[in-house]
Amino acid sequence: SKPVYILAIETSCDETSVAIVENGKIIRSNVISSQIETHQRYGGVVPEVASRKHVESITWMLEEAVEKACVSLQELSAIAVTEGPGLIGALLVGVVAGKALACALDLPLIGVHHIAGHIYANQLVHELEYPLISLVVSGGHTELVLLEEPGKFRIIGRTRDDAAGEAYDKIARAMGLPYPGGPHVDRLAQEADSEIKLPRSWLEADSYDFSFSGLKSAVLNVVNQSKMRGEAVQTAQIAKGFQASVIDVLVEKAARAVREYGAKQLLLAGGVAANKGLRSALAERCEELNVPLLVPPHVLCTDNAAMIGAAAFLKWDKQEFDSMELKAEPQLKL
Ligand code: KG4
Ligand code: ZN
Repeated sequence: SKPVYILAIETSCDETSVAIVENGKIIRSNVISSQIETHQRYGGVVPEVASRKHVESITWMLEEAVEKACVSLQELSAIAVTEGPGLIGALLVGVVAGKALACALDLPLIGVHHIAGHIYANQLVHELEYPLISLVVSGGHTELVLLEEPGKFRIIGRTRDDAAGEAYDKIARAMGLPYPGGPHVDRLAQEADSEIKLPRSWLEADSYDFSFSGLKSAVLNVVNQSKMRGEAVQTAQIAKGFQASVIDVLVEKAARAVREYGAKQLLLAGGVAANKGLRSALAERCEELNVPLLVPPHVLCTDNAAMIGAAAFLKWDKQEFDSMELKAEPQLKL
């Protein structure tokens, strides 16, 4: 039968991206424009600046995505767009562009949850087997999600305060590292030969929730004490201790969830999935559990539209379409 081509748009944070995905599996194009350089001088994402950048980029990116895919507009089956969660002004740019295209081309519109996208990035490179557990770790999210069947998401644990990536970025900033700090902390942690012991926050014994604000405060205390004493901040040792604490908790809870729910696979998703320490610790634990660990390649870990096209295909399958009433939802629930 005829291939299903979904044109997908992602503008929830600081990456503008447009992709065309075939049958939810094959990336025909995945154009990504990162605003990191723009936001770097402010030490973080400035929402108003992000929205303006999306507006500047979206039109040429749509054209480029169509051109690169070698798919004509007439061959498209649907338009998908991230409806939330994210920054309201940023989401709006994508939602409005998506609606305009769906309207002009008379195509169905599919709103996609950003986290569903991160999880289904794995579908672009792996065969998924259910039930599965997905650990979603990004700048905005830290969630353990159970999928008993395709497209049926159940959040079994989430952060009660900072997201893992957010904690990385905040401690990096306190230590004078550039934004986004995650990759720098990761690198320093690999290089350090000793670590500063930092607390782990396990919460209640049966909880799958996370908390990183206590750990973040502990790091800030160590940094401030060094500064007050006029000593050099032991950046690498702190990075190593911080990373060890984050990884211990993430791996332990993910492994417990895999066992409790009899998961056939563990999926890693989100920007922090790029973390080398986390990957190797999870891989090791998964081997003990005899459960495959699935991780998308780096470009599909961080924000991109191909993952939105992959997740949208599930809704296409069920003919679950949205109307022109579709709204950008900054706090959208999975
Ligand atoms: O998924 P993403 O691109 O955007 C959100 O949806 O949030 O994730 C970005 C986050 C940032 O906080 C960044 O510091 C973190 O992912 N990150 C890392 C690494 N690479 C990116 N954190 C730890 N280690 C890394 N290697
Ligand atoms: Zn994301």
